[in-house]
Amino acid sequence: MVRFEDLNVGTEQTVACRQLGLTERALVAFVKAIPLCNQRFKIRYFQAFLDFLDILSLGLIEKNGLVQSLKDGMPRKQEERITRLFLSMLEAYGLIELREESYVFQNPYSSLAENDFQQIVESVDQPQKSNSELPEFLLQKLNNYRIVNKLILLYRNPEHQVVGIPSEKHWRSLIAGQQLDYEIRLAETLKHLWQLELPKKIHSALDDSYYTESGRNAFRNFTKNRFLTCVDHIDSRNPIREVLDIGCGYGNYMDALSRHLPEVQICGVELQEKVYRETEERFAGNDRVSVLNSNVFDVKPGKPVDLVLMNYVLFYFSNEQKERLFTKLHEVLSDTGSILICQYYAGIEDLKDQLKQHQGDAGLAKRVAAFYGDKILYANSLWNEASDAFVQAEIWDEFLQLLNKTGFRVEALTHADPFYYSLFVEIKKV
Ligand SMILES: C[S@@+](CC[C@H](N)C(=O)[O-])C[C@H]1O[C@@H](n2cnc3c(N)ncnc32)[C@H](O)[C@@H]1O
Repeated sequence: MVRFEDLNVGTEQTVACRQLGLTERALVAFVKAIPLCNQRFKIRYFQAFLDFLDILSLGLIEKNGLVQSLKDGMPRKQEERITRLFLSMLEAYGLIELREESYVFQNPYSSLAENDFQQIVESVDQPQKSNSELPEFLLQKLNNYRIVNKLILLYRNPEHQVVGIPSEKHWRSLIAGQQLDYEIRLAETLKHLWQLELPKKIHSALDDSYYTESGRNAFRNFTKNRFLTCVDHIDSRNPIREVLDIGCGYGNYMDALSRHLPEVQICGVELQEKVYRETEERFAGNDRVSVLNSNVFDVKPGKPVDLVLMNYVLFYFSNEQKERLFTKLHEVLSDTGSILICQYYAGIEDLKDQLKQHQGDAGLAKRVAAFYGDKILYANSLWNEASDAFVQAEIWDEFLQLLNKTGFRVEALTHADPFYYSLFVEIKKV
């Protein structure tokens, strides 16, 4: 883990509309030329995913009546958080740009007519309809939009007969081998942004346990190894004995921790009864792990806690609730104890660049992977804000303010997955 004070980043993070540089583009072209290599398909997937998000974004501009506003200039300062996050996403995707204090369409979107936007909406709502009047670059994006949709269908139902996916056999084998689980589930989730009517919340069509399941996938495919590295880092300075896992889900982190450090006593707290029951059963007979079916606000640990885990859980709380939660954690955490969160934030590209450099991890392939991940994060954050399954998106600057207000600071951080999509952040009392 890298000490936060060793990173030299400003207090305010800003939206980054980054493009792949020349060397990164050369690598992408090279990988795409290797037949039937898994990386080639992953890159292909991410490129299609970005086009999928562009199509969603362009359609949402039309559906929310913003075409003319973005032609004339739409004030950057917006009252609603959700509108601000939507505009940040459009900016990060290079669809709009800031001129003085107003957002306007960026080229080539500035030359699109209202009718083009209407056609995009029709193409999404009625996939059979012809849209050949659209400019070529939009037709390509629409094609990729459809490919991602077909992969979602294949993921959900491997028996599904799909037409129009080149190298379908290889895609099927990647899906069957669980190589694209997290990525396809993310597209499946973000597709629901199509319901966005600013500034309202979207009623979530996905069951609450869907996200707990996504957490399980993220753990299995990405965060497990890095988690244990963080645990060792913390334990080597202050031995961990008592642990509280807030929003423990199916208990993956508790399982890894109890196997890794046989001395620890862990209490997991899980709000959903259905998830709780499965987790409780998983640890039946393990007297070092207990699971509570409770809201974290109703839990009072009997002993000072050395480590609090909060993995992908902060977006279930409002700023006011987080303030109460962290104030409570200040009381239950031992003075040398740590909070370890696993969370993603959009718009912290500069911070992550520095982190990569400190970790000697700024190689070409990493830069390409992070490029796609960073872009997707803007849509993911908007989803956390927009979906009524969550309360509000996590925003890095607000998070630092919260810590400051409640007597905590960031001690250290590291990446939670190879793409620096999520971070593990260690927090300590001031
Ligand atoms: C996205 S899941 C992540 C689960 C697990 N931490 C992981 O990373 O695999 C977040 C979990 O937090 C739980 N949760 C949300 N609000 C909670 C609260 N107030 N108290 C306890 N659990 C909560 C949800 O039910 C959900 O299972």
